[in-house]
Amino acid sequence: MAGQRGSVPEQEETALTYILVTGGAGYIGSHACKALKAAGYTPVTYDNLSTGWQDAVKFGPFEQGDLRDRERLDAVFAQYQPAAVMHFAALSQVGEAMSEPGRYWANNVGGSLTLIEAAVAAGCLDFVFSSTCATYGEHDNVVLDENTPQHPLNAYGASKRAVEDILRDFGASHGLRSVIFRYFNVAGADPEAAVGEFHHPETHLVPLVLDAIDGKRDALTIFGTDYDTADGTCVRDYVHVCDLVDAHVLGLRWLTDGKGSEVFNLGTGTGFSVREVMDKAGEVTGRAVPHVTGPRRAGDCTKLVSGSVRAATVLGWEATRSNLETMIADAWRWHKVGAYER
Ligand code: UFG
Repeated sequence: MAGQRGSVPEQEETALTYILVTGGAGYIGSHACKALKAAGYTPVTYDNLSTGWQDAVKFGPFEQGDLRDRERLDAVFAQYQPAAVMHFAALSQVGEAMSEPGRYWANNVGGSLTLIEAAVAAGCLDFVFSSTCATYGEHDNVVLDENTPQHPLNAYGASKRAVEDILRDFGASHGLRSVIFRYFNVAGADPEAAVGEFHHPETHLVPLVLDAIDGKRDALTIFGTDYDTADGTCVRDYVHVCDLVDAHVLGLRWLTDGKGSEVFNLGTGTGFSVREVMDKAGEVTGRAVPHVTGPRRAGDCTKLVSGSVRAATVLGWEATRSNLETMIADAWRWHKVGAYER
């Protein structure tokens, strides 16, 4: 593959613009690699495969390594001299963060700090960071925009907020420029099904609903039916993974054009309840969703919906696939054909 170290002539290789993509073997990172390749960059995946899949690395070189391994990071920065970093690698399960917060602080904060220090030491000063709306926490009837106070309810959100702070400090002291994206709920898959969502174990609503429809699990458990929402189930703002990674390419260009550090929410501004997602999945697949109701899941907020259009107005981001039907249809297509080796 063009861009594979050692497989292309030296002259051609120097013309490549490498982007270091941590977590490039994961769900969002692998879609980002595809988008980067399509935009003319060569993504270099840096991933320890703790939750990612080597089969998902299809669009550029793969370097196996851990975020906390400074020597390995230094060697990778020296080898590729990337123009920028896109940092996706993280532990990202709210439930797990509630029971094992230490792993979240060590990996997400400690690991990110090591990566940021390595990037600065290598003179790679453009940094795109995957943050989360979980940094906001519970805000009743408040429009969540980039200025909303961040009071995370769990160690996952807290770890991401801490990395945002590190990026700001390194911006002030070392000239690091960052674009921070606070994601709402990412769903869907590459429409060509080259890559898709595949977690083990799976904890996310859309793939679990599809598993239940397909008989891969007995039933979906609805976590809580007594929330203060129209139907009693939690409301989330779902954004298509392809739209999400398009925003990252725009964020990268923003930085490489020499513009300053920014924070953007990535959501559509429309919320759907768990029941609405189930109903839409039933419609798209033509099958009923076997389900049972259960208690609330610790760490869940009632409602998380973006109230900002900054990514559209400032970056020119346009979400073209982020309607619920398309997200579920794309996820369903991937569900039927896609899987990675375990
Ligand atoms: N849900 C169920 N049953 C399940 C799984 C999920 O009812 O079996 C519900 C959850 O309670 C929640 C909604 O479906 O209300 C969405 O849950 P997900 O686990 O798919 O997503 P989360 O909202 O918990 O988490 C996602 C990302 C996190 C991010 C968070 C911000 O996975 O990385 O959004 O809230 F931090």
